Amino acid sequence: GADNYSWYPTFHFSPPKGWMNDPNGLSYYNGYYQAFYQYNPYDTESGWMHWGHARSTNLLKWEHLPIALTPSLPEDIDGIFSGSAVVSDGNLILMYTGVSGNSTHQAQCLANSTDGINFDKLGLVLKKNGSDLNFRDPKVWKQGDSWFVIIGSKTDDDRGEVLLYQSLDLKSWDYQGVLAQADETLGYMWECPDFFTLGDKQILLINPQGMEQNGYDYQNLYQTGYFVGTWQPGEQYIIEKGFKEIDHGHDFYASQTFLAPDGRRILIGWLDMWESVFPERQEGWAGMLTLPRELTLSLNGTIEIRPIREVEDYRTEDVVSNNSVTLNDDSIFVLKEQVTSNEIIIELDPVKSNASTYGVRLGDEDQGVFVYVDTEKQRLFVERSYPQFNISRSDRSVAVDLSNPIYLDIFVDSSSIEVFVNDGESVLSSRIYPTELQRSLAVFHSEGSVTVNKYSIWNI
Ligand code: FRU
Repeated sequence: GADNYSWYPTFHFSPPKGWMNDPNGLSYYNGYYQAFYQYNPYDTESGWMHWGHARSTNLLKWEHLPIALTPSLPEDIDGIFSGSAVVSDGNLILMYTGVSGNSTHQAQCLANSTDGINFDKLGLVLKKNGSDLNFRDPKVWKQGDSWFVIIGSKTDDDRGEVLLYQSLDLKSWDYQGVLAQADETLGYMWECPDFFTLGDKQILLINPQGMEQNGYDYQNLYQTGYFVGTWQPGEQYIIEKGFKEIDHGHDFYASQTFLAPDGRRILIGWLDMWESVFPERQEGWAGMLTLPRELTLSLNGTIEIRPIREVEDYRTEDVVSNNSVTLNDDSIFVLKEQVTSNEIIIELDPVKSNASTYGVRLGDEDQGVFVYVDTEKQRLFVERSYPQFNISRSDRSVAVDLSNPIYLDIFVDSSSIEVFVNDGESVLSSRIYPTELQRSLAVFHSEGSVTVNKYSIWNI
């Protein structure tokens, strides 16, 4: 960015410097939310992976802590890959994938902490017989007296799968079989699996590599999505619904959930994609995590997704307007001149609008990010275009019902935008790279009219 502003976020997590990818070990321990992350402190590219570490009391302001895990054992010397955390007997235990043998082997290892800051490695605990080149990202949980872990893998004929193991002490693990497996359409490898109860269902969240685009679905390089089903220890996982994407933006991958002390199921994702351009490298860092989201199960058995309520405590200098605004001709309506760290709630009224496309844009007519309804396609699009940074015009979208107002809760934080649609219905998350002159937020529309029922804008 220019001298007086940066793309570094203010209420999202990014690494202090260097490269970050997946969130790891999300947990609550010693009075703090704990977040670890795939970290290469030496470069703004993926490389020799470590676990970076941060903690927070509210999931929005993060305190950077010393690196938690550095490659050092024969089993993890080529990298500390993704994994999860559990609290056991007052200790914080990390289970991660150690990479070794010139990156040809992946196996699961443990580390232990009694203070939430320093970690002692306990070494290798779980290996796969046969090819272990793709055997990673353990997600552990406790149920009854047992520990369970699922691990992302692939079959010999290149289909993604999730393997299940059980243990009484976290150290000696028994193989329980395949929890779920891809058919030909669901990718060749499943990364970062997660498995948890929501309402009266069990959700399996996976990150398939190599799914084909299908119309408006699966447009990213890799996807993140879920199945809804039922499971209990000793039984098969019966899938009832899925696969459904959990975020519909340009940049969302490798998410992980955890249970907050008050029982909320919170999801945090990597707000990037592996093939992204990362213009922030010029500022010495790369990668951002999403705003934490609370997940609930809707009555029709799909996941509802909302920003965590803690964000409301950070709203200041509000502009709240309950008066409707109607724009005719080719006029635009500037909501705010300089948007850097803001929440914008806006209700568009399709019934009162007769333009074929309308919405808000951050930037100018040609460049920036555009959040708009296309009435012919009956979809809400997030389209971005930053050619000066080699990010060519592309869009992502979700279906919307045009017989009711469309309620958008939009978070912009320096170089990210997250658009929550209709209070829980869907979310689209993308990185954006506005220059200083592209930070004006306005309502725009094609020929005809658009009506905004109400809007609110806060600094965050
Ligand atoms: C997902 C992933 C994981 C792996 C990690 C390595 O983005 O590929 O499967 O553990 O990143 O950094």
